Amino acid sequence: MAKASLSFVCQNCGAAYNRWQGKCEACGEWNTLSEEDVTGAASVPASIRSKRRGRQFQLETLAGQSPDAPRLASGLAELDRVTGGGFVRGSVLLVGGDPGIGKSTLLTQATSLMAKAGHRIVYISGEEAVAQVRLRAARLGLANAPVQLAAETSVEDIIATLSDGKPPRLIVIDSIQTMWTDTVESAPGTVTQVRASAQALIRFAKKSGAAIILVGHVTKDGQIAGPRVVEHMVDAVLSFEGEGSQQFRILRAVKNRFGPTDEIGVFEMTGLGLREVSNPSELFLSERDLGSPGTAVFAGMEGTRPVLCELQALVVPTTLGTPRRAVVGWDSSRLSMVLAVLEAHCGVKLAGYDVYFNVAGGLRINEPAADLAAAAALVSSLANAPLPPDAVYFGEISLSGAVRPVAQAAARLKEAAKLGFARAFLPEAARGDGGSDGGLSLNTLGGLTALVADIAARGTPKPGRDNVKSTNQEKNAATARFRRQEG
Ligand code: TYD
Ligand code: MG
Repeated sequence: MAKASLSFVCQNCGAAYNRWQGKCEACGEWNTLSEEDVTGAASVPASIRSKRRGRQFQLETLAGQSPDAPRLASGLAELDRVTGGGFVRGSVLLVGGDPGIGKSTLLTQATSLMAKAGHRIVYISGEEAVAQVRLRAARLGLANAPVQLAAETSVEDIIATLSDGKPPRLIVIDSIQTMWTDTVESAPGTVTQVRASAQALIRFAKKSGAAIILVGHVTKDGQIAGPRVVEHMVDAVLSFEGEGSQQFRILRAVKNRFGPTDEIGVFEMTGLGLREVSNPSELFLSERDLGSPGTAVFAGMEGTRPVLCELQALVVPTTLGTPRRAVVGWDSSRLSMVLAVLEAHCGVKLAGYDVYFNVAGGLRINEPAADLAAAAALVSSLANAPLPPDAVYFGEISLSGAVRPVAQAAARLKEAAKLGFARAFLPEAARGDGGSDGGLSLNTLGGLTALVADIAARGTPKPGRDNVKSTNQEKNAATARFRRQEG
């Protein structure tokens, strides 16, 4: 009998070691190594291996006909936008997200719609009992959808059941961390188990042509729990994000072998499940605080769709030696860059101030085009000067202080005009991109200096660190006086 091969496997990144150690050298995490049998099903004894001859298989052509449409549209337009038009036959997709964000809700709604359209859809729940899944479906008003449901965790049992008869078009596995396979010894949820279970399911998807959706949990630092390894094995990784306290949810493609990765789907969690938001700009701009300093509207793009959102900055005098820079929804190194450009080229001294920066509505922005709107919000807060409420901003800022052109200016302007904005601050070169300006009055900028001077001229600056220092000195002097009186 083959000797079981035991290794110490990092539960965070999957690196294997011969002996136990406190720290994983691959990912730097502490106390993540645990002992696992990594023999797996693939290791065949040498005696058999030498005798086994390869099986011949049929080679196919690229132009071959597939019996069904290669993609299965879910019926939820926001989900289909992110997958690139539906689920591809034989592909495996991983949906990650924090617990309670709404993964099961989203997939219950999508599977019900597809089942109602006449496809064979199977939902395997490893976390909840059948009764709980039914309860959710009843709450969503989808109890009569012909989805085939089971509460199972054994991968072998699932594959045996589904191999019988016509294969399903789509299988949901909720979640991959609860699945286990006989071929490896480790406990469910360990890296080895998750990897082996995912491999078995991926093999089944390729063989049967069914699309499989794996649900994965996210750890506290935002990775799809421990088994990052699964991300490399699947065809697409979608991440479902949102602030627990807010009702907006954003579905984003992190990896997609069959579609774009820059599209987002926007949903709103309501008492009756997830509602699709087809015009996200209206959502992100609702409840705007008009006329207060430190807010600027950024005309951004998410994939092919323009999305307007509000950027908020708060600049306050600091009492710390190293001022605080806190950012939500944007890249903190990008903020540091904009602050450095403001300081170096526009004479805006920010060393004595704490800077807080936030993208409203829980959106996360990756575009460099947000630089100009961010700079406008920062200067507006510092100068205590509200920006015009009917203006949008976009443009990339270069290290020399110039405002650089960005793509798709016409689409951004059109969306801004549709939402009732009257002016746009944009790079000079953007005018020449051929599209119409949507009837907005355009303030083109060659450099950042002109914009900063314009905002600063309208405001009343706040006290800086020097003023704070003097108030501190007064306080200290007052304390000393008080002590003397007591003594
Ligand atoms: P769920 O889909 O179970 O999350 P996940 O599978 O990602 O862990 O969603 C759980 C949350 O969604 C729960 O806090 C309740 C909320 N919810 C609603 O607000 N409305 C609804 O109609 C449903 C079904 C859930
Ligand atoms: Mg769930």
